[in-house]
Amino acid sequence: MRGLMLAALACVGGAVAAQETADSVLPEAPTALSTEAISGVVAEAQAEKAAGRPVRAQKWMVSAANPHAVTAGARVLERGGSAADAMVAVQAVLGLVEPQSSGLGGGAFLVYYDAASGKLTTLDGRETAPLLVGPTLFQDNMGKPLKFFDAVVGGRSVGVPGTPALMQAAHARWGRSEWAGLFGDAIKLADEGFAVSARLAALVTNDAQRLMRDPETRGYFLPDGFALREGHILKNPAYAETLRVLAGQGAKQFYTGKIAKDIVAKVQGVEDNPGTLSEVDLMLYRVKEREPVCVPYRGYEICGMGTPSSGGLTVGQILGMLVPYDLTALGHENPEAWRLIGDASRLAFADRGRYIADSDYVPVPVKGLLDADYLSERAALLRGDDALPEVAPGKPEFDHALNWADDDAIELPSTSHISIVDAEGNALSMTTTIENAFGSRLMVRGFLLNNELTDFSFRSHRGGVPVANRVEPGKRPRSSMAPTIVMQGGKPILVIGSPGGSRIIGYVAKTIIAWADWGMDIQQAIALPHLVNRFGTYDVEGGTNAEALTASLKELGYEVKARGLNSGLHGIDLRDGLAGGADPRREGIVLGQ
Ligand code: GLY
Repeated sequence: MRGLMLAALACVGGAVAAQETADSVLPEAPTALSTEAISGVVAEAQAEKAAGRPVRAQKWMVSAANPHAVTAGARVLERGGSAADAMVAVQAVLGLVEPQSSGLGGGAFLVYYDAASGKLTTLDGRETAPLLVGPTLFQDNMGKPLKFFDAVVGGRSVGVPGTPALMQAAHARWGRSEWAGLFGDAIKLADEGFAVSARLAALVTNDAQRLMRDPETRGYFLPDGFALREGHILKNPAYAETLRVLAGQGAKQFYTGKIAKDIVAKVQGVEDNPGTLSEVDLMLYRVKEREPVCVPYRGYEICGMGTPSSGGLTVGQILGMLVPYDLTALGHENPEAWRLIGDASRLAFADRGRYIADSDYVPVPVKGLLDADYLSERAALLRGDDALPEVAPGKPEFDHALNWADDDAIELPSTSHISIVDAEGNALSMTTTIENAFGSRLMVRGFLLNNELTDFSFRSHRGGVPVANRVEPGKRPRSSMAPTIVMQGGKPILVIGSPGGSRIIGYVAKTIIAWADWGMDIQQAIALPHLVNRFGTYDVEGGTNAEALTASLKELGYEVKARGLNSGLHGIDLRDGLAGGADPRREGIVLGQ
């Protein structure tokens, strides 16, 4: 199996090799994607996933949510490109074939291990709130929070996109291939068309009413008034043109040129729900480097994204509270293991709701939340036999005498995750989003604009006490995205992350536990049915053997709800060569060599 995959990729690489310069920097866009060899490789990867086995390789690997996107990344890596180069190619294709989840109109967080320096860096490409918004952005005239979709659909929810700037910033730091060449596959697919996937078709059908509101969105997703069908060959010449501009002139064009003007006109021009996003907001956008958040767990360092994401801190708190408990001895079929995981999650979510927001705007007790003594104190609350009857935020050590009220941000699942390791040993974990499926439902130049501002709390205060994650001009909404790199001895050994709204945190924590405590390989750990508890109700993955735990969890005192839990975990284990996993709940694959 592995030999076949290698041979096929080598064959494609051979076709491209003639274009390469001595130092592997590509001067040209890559050639056609749709070779028989590539189809064979993709089919093999799909078969491995269906069989529940990880894909194994030695040199490089890419795991992401769509075969076209993974193939584009694989081709960059095969030609000697870096993980950052491959990410640019993967993201450009994802924005086309999975437009509901991520794209140029959204934001992303990236964790990068640079093998040459041994340094772990995190980049924040999160959207920012326009300068003209205030804390009541999502309230009616009486100060009552708006209904979620009344806030989402239209211009009001659109933040300044960060993804194009993040792609360029990552490439500028760690790129080895020529920038322009990284868009070739996406441009070609957009010009020639791609087959609409089953998932995209189903989501368009479900969301048809909202997708009708913007004429550009309607024309693309409901041509002739009918929802796109699976297998329909969909072209996106406007997106191809946007990518040509980005490829030729860089992300600056997106933030200051004609693209910026069109974004502003679209957001401000929505008749019934306009936003205030302006050309100044776009011009001011900057990617920010943040301190990685690292937490010790079972001899590993679990490293992720700091604020404005709650991902690194909340995954870190959950795992930190579980340190004193022997999950290995309990095993994954034991309700007691899930009581510990579920209540550790509830305690962490209570802290998240009160304390975590954009730390450039509000002080966040990052050290206090991860302090070993504080986590032991919180872990001691788990010593009983039953579900905790009540859960409240703790009192982490805080270097500012401030108090916040609990927030009520609503986060529904969409988003996408990319994991990449290149031949030099660089590792990349990036979670990327336009927030809700299809974002604000506004389309500009072939891509959708985000609704990321609805990740702020709709309530600005409670009982006169302000909410940390309230809307403020220029602020970045709190996220749950948890791109993670697990380190050991200063080297990366696992790259992981997922979409899923605020359940991302539970999906990522579970996968790390399954891999670290229960000895599962990366594909098994990803596929292991989900049980997620955030605010008290235990969500168990419907139609899986997780439902067998329902009665025991009820006996422990939980309300239990069986439901679809559509994670999109993509991971790479670097301990013995490379082993990659792709979430069986979605359409992604792993390719490697
Ligand atoms: N909008 C999803 C997240 O940032 O968590």
